[in-house]
Amino acid sequence: MATGLDVGTMNILSADQEGTDTVFVQQRNSFVEIEYSDMAEQMLSRSDVLHIRKGDKVYVVGDDALNFANIFNKETRRPMQHGILSSDEQSAIPMMKLIIEQVVGEPDYPGERLYFSSPADPIDSDLSTLYHQKTLESFLDDMGYDAEPINEGMAVIYSELADRSFTGLGISFGAGMTNVCLSYYAVPVMKFSVARGGDWVDEQAAQATGTPVDKVTSIKEEDFALDFETDVGGVEGALSIYYENLLEYVIDNIVAEVDEEDIEEGLDVPVVVTGGTASPDGFKELFQDHLEESDIPFSISDVMHVNEPLYSVARGGLVAARSDEEEDEADRQEAETSEE
Ligand SMILES: Nc1ncnc2c1ncn2[C@@H]1O[C@H](COP(=O)(O)OP(=O)(O)OP(=O)(O)O)[C@@H](O)[C@H]1O
Ligand SMILES: [Mg+2]
Repeated sequence: MATGLDVGTMNILSADQEGTDTVFVQQRNSFVEIEYSDMAEQMLSRSDVLHIRKGDKVYVVGDDALNFANIFNKETRRPMQHGILSSDEQSAIPMMKLIIEQVVGEPDYPGERLYFSSPADPIDSDLSTLYHQKTLESFLDDMGYDAEPINEGMAVIYSELADRSFTGLGISFGAGMTNVCLSYYAVPVMKFSVARGGDWVDEQAAQATGTPVDKVTSIKEEDFALDFETDVGGVEGALSIYYENLLEYVIDNIVAEVDEEDIEEGLDVPVVVTGGTASPDGFKELFQDHLEESDIPFSISDVMHVNEPLYSVARGGLVAARSDEEEDEADRQEAETSEE
């Protein structure tokens, strides 16, 4: 069966179809380095903690990294930054390989179709996504998959706009980036990313309030809402300010790109906002308010929020992969009938 894979700066997720259910497997895209000892190695090998040894270090990878970091009082590290493989992190590739192997598992058969998400080149930085994309593609191919990249914004359209003829604006607010794609009948008309997302909000709010970034992230993920009623001067107040700034920044960039691409003004399309950063209550409403105030040159029929924002991209990859497999199957059957 086909597979979808969301390769994100903070989370790596796979989506598979089992009967009528879509099954997701998720790991945190992070690791922590601890000193090697025979005892530690033995204990880890008996557990199901994901880890690898390199020389006199052991790396604990994925969801467990955070627990180990807390116990050993260390910082977790990230293989990716701003949506792509981090150039500051030499261990990035083996760490991600381990996480991806755990999340997607072996292919069900050689050449199983897999779509993995890849960001569009950011318009506000020099980062190029090519190396990242080709590296992932080659190690997924080595695992035995027939792997293809899918633009992250397009994956949102596949996942959430099936009943709207895959027409609309899909936006994935992630950790390292925000990805935007405008699709018209499943054809991408415009796609871009900005190198800002949840990490940027956390860093800014941390700096403004003198709070450690990890602490800000947990406050944000726990029960933060964009209601603008709380906490002037506190972390939640700062989070609200930078959240609003991120939304304005994304909308301004959408307006600028739409102008540049000369998009048909008669369009009337839905917008979907998703990704982990779109989780807080009030996000959709705030986005909608700012969009209404903007000079976007076409009309927006509605702004949609999804129930499980962390799953959209992986699900979109699965939709694309299944559609390819169905097409291959139809071709095969047609070839068989014409042989008869
Ligand atoms: N409940 C929540 N409330 C607020 N923010 C959240 C919540 N859950 C997750 N996040 C934030 O969402 C971001 C992760 O989202 P997501 O998994 O969509 O990103 P990613 O795909 O890993 O990153 P990218 O697409 O940028 O590479 C992080 O910034 C995280 O702190
Ligand atoms: Mg993402």
